[in-house]
Amino acid sequence: MYKSIIKPILFQFDPEKVHHFVFFSLKFAFKIPGIAVLATKLFKINSPKLTVKAFGLEFENPVGLAAGFDKNAELIDELACFGFGFIEIGTVTPKAQPGNDKPRLFRLPEDEALINRMGFNNNGVEAAVANLKKRNSKIIIGGNIGKNKITLNENALNDYLICFEALYPWVDYFVVNVSSPNTPNLRELQEKEPLTKLLNAVQKLNNSKIKQKPVLLKIAPDLTDSQLDDIVEIVDTTKIAGIIATNTTIDRSNLKTNAQKLIEIGAGGLSGEPVKNRSTEIIKYIHKKAEGKIPIIGVGGVNNARDVREKLAAGACLVQIYTGFIYEGPSIVSEICKELTI
Ligand code: FNR
Repeated sequence: MYKSIIKPILFQFDPEKVHHFVFFSLKFAFKIPGIAVLATKLFKINSPKLTVKAFGLEFENPVGLAAGFDKNAELIDELACFGFGFIEIGTVTPKAQPGNDKPRLFRLPEDEALINRMGFNNNGVEAAVANLKKRNSKIIIGGNIGKNKITLNENALNDYLICFEALYPWVDYFVVNVSSPNTPNLRELQEKEPLTKLLNAVQKLNNSKIKQKPVLLKIAPDLTDSQLDDIVEIVDTTKIAGIIATNTTIDRSNLKTNAQKLIEIGAGGLSGEPVKNRSTEIIKYIHKKAEGKIPIIGVGGVNNARDVREKLAAGACLVQIYTGFIYEGPSIVSEICKELTI
């Protein structure tokens, strides 16, 4: 019903407006008694076969919601009913910021893809914390942290530490995001020296806590092999818990979408089907280089159980979905999980 009726209607409208409309509708619908129970019955697959243990956490199933969908942790309880094994909130920054000018989110239906240049629009870390305090669901939450646009790279470290400190009691794992193409110069922080400094500082703060939380690094699909070699080395020296591969790409090759349309859309990160193979290649490369010792969350172009199996075979222990949720609809996780139990 989603693909034949709802999606064609939603796709008539501006993608960001649809995103807000869906948020509002879900908030409203889930206030009706019985809806949450019904949705859980429909979409949540419970099976011990699906359980995954990774970096000290036990996940009910391996399919998570990727960062960027619920940036402010506004919809955790509702989204948990769609069967996700975990939800990553953010990217959050210390202060609220509006992000880039609109329009900044575009559909590429021929490619089953999206291009976004949101630019870390979010209500700031304290707003996310206030929302996390209110949640009832016990679903595993990842806190994806970044820096404000106005913060210079040389002061970025402080932004990550502010977010880490504020979110620490409320999330189960952290993601240091240095791979968004939409915050000027952010991806420079993926270079060896600044990245080592940043991760060491986050880990120092983490180690000052009685209980340490897993810290993962989210990387771009546009890194070269030698940059990936550096990343593997840095994960080892900073002793972080794992890697999320990957964020969106700036690459525009091999798209079915008309070149003129791509020019009109302009800059941004491409997600969905076109990033699938590159993301899997990166997982494979890191898994091999690290001799299987680095836990990897695979993300990029996951649409069905076959895509999940491909990422797991490449070396991922968990996967995440964003664009597939938009194109395949609310039953995507349950359909994947059903197949994974067979
Ligand atoms: C994202 N993504 C993202 N990632 C992140 O670490 N922080 C963020 O704030 C966002 N924001 C965001 C907004 C939008 C509109 C999209 C489409 C994506 C990237 C996302 O988490 C994921 O890594 C990529 O989209 C690749 O996965 P999919 O979409 O192909 O499943």
